[in-house]
Amino acid sequence: MKKFTNARIYRQHDEVTDILVDKGVITQIGKNLPKAGEEIDLRGRLVVPPYVDAHLHLDYVYTGRNTGATNNTGTLFEGIARWHDVKKTQTFEDAKERALKGIREEVSKGVQFIRTHIDVDDPKLTGLKAMLEIREQLKDNVTIQIVAFPQEGMYAYKGGDEMVEEALKMGADCVGSIPHFEWAREIGEKSIHRTVELAVKHNKLIDVHCDETDDVMSRFVQLLNALVMAEGMGPRTAASHTCSFGSADNAYAFRMLGLFQQSGLNFISLPTENAYLQGRQDSYPKRRGLTRVKELWDSGVNVCFGQDSINDPWYPAGNGNLMNILDNGIHLAQTMSFDELDRCLDLITYNGAKTLNVQDRYGIEKGKPANFLVLDADSPFEAVRQRADVLASIRNGEYLFKRPEPSYEVELDLFRKTR
Ligand code: FE2
Repeated sequence: MKKFTNARIYRQHDEVTDILVDKGVITQIGKNLPKAGEEIDLRGRLVVPPYVDAHLHLDYVYTGRNTGATNNTGTLFEGIARWHDVKKTQTFEDAKERALKGIREEVSKGVQFIRTHIDVDDPKLTGLKAMLEIREQLKDNVTIQIVAFPQEGMYAYKGGDEMVEEALKMGADCVGSIPHFEWAREIGEKSIHRTVELAVKHNKLIDVHCDETDDVMSRFVQLLNALVMAEGMGPRTAASHTCSFGSADNAYAFRMLGLFQQSGLNFISLPTENAYLQGRQDSYPKRRGLTRVKELWDSGVNVCFGQDSINDPWYPAGNGNLMNILDNGIHLAQTMSFDELDRCLDLITYNGAKTLNVQDRYGIEKGKPANFLVLDADSPFEAVRQRADVLASIRNGEYLFKRPEPSYEVELDLFRKTR
């Protein structure tokens, strides 16, 4: 048995408490718990469930630089065109090596749950095969969900819908699609119908790249929401991006927020990615590409944040640091009241877990796997204000990593000369 003492558990305990772990599972939380063979004093630090990256493209990481894939317009559509060329050169070994490097970056910053979209518009399904192998190899350390994602369309890419189904049969967890990239609205709608059909047929989750455009006429989220609501699949479905919902008129948004509440649809916003990619056809005022995060959150609709890209043809930066994503996201969404700051860690923890449908094994509770992070802060507010580092990531009661608090070789002493 192991006991983590003097923890401040996010959204559960203002006062310090102890966590008892046996065989990788939390057996008790509270004070005056039985003695354990190993006792670790967390000294009042904030303990949160692991970060969840709800949207990442692990087959693209590190293809943004030195591959000839420079995206000169900085748009989503040129990114897709550049990737089209890069993926022809992708090998199984190369895909696996880059993805592992990306996972390492994320896990080293506290992520333990990743949903990755893998491009299946590829007759060889190279990226998918690499990711299926990695998912199995790393399952004890990081939970990975794979979306069968037709990056160049289900129909704009010939046979894309068949490749998606093939990927589902091979073991992908979620059906993906990209309706705003199809060649016409009707074909985008057809891809949404096909997405839902495939999810029902194969009993899979759904995650659609939905309305990733400033075009206010792009309203595929309306059809997606209606179809999954009819199937009772809203909570098993995510709409990623929905940038155009941030540009839509208020009457439409008002109607849709009510329907989203009814369906239980989940939303994934990618704040750094879309702040960079969107607004490219605007002069000024220039839109920032964010969906209505604040209004979704205020309405009780589940919304979370994700990284999306790590150095790929769509976005040059990205390092898997979800605290950085949260920091950007709450600024862009203007969700920084003190009340919002106290609970905005939800956007990279609990809300992401709900989106991934992993709530049954997520959270710091008796009977759940002992998966949690120790942050270098003593409250949620300080964690966000200071963009706190992760001091330790614990998985099934064991350290995935542990690092020392930052220290100075030369202490800062502003007052030395005044003494
Ligand atoms: Fe994406």
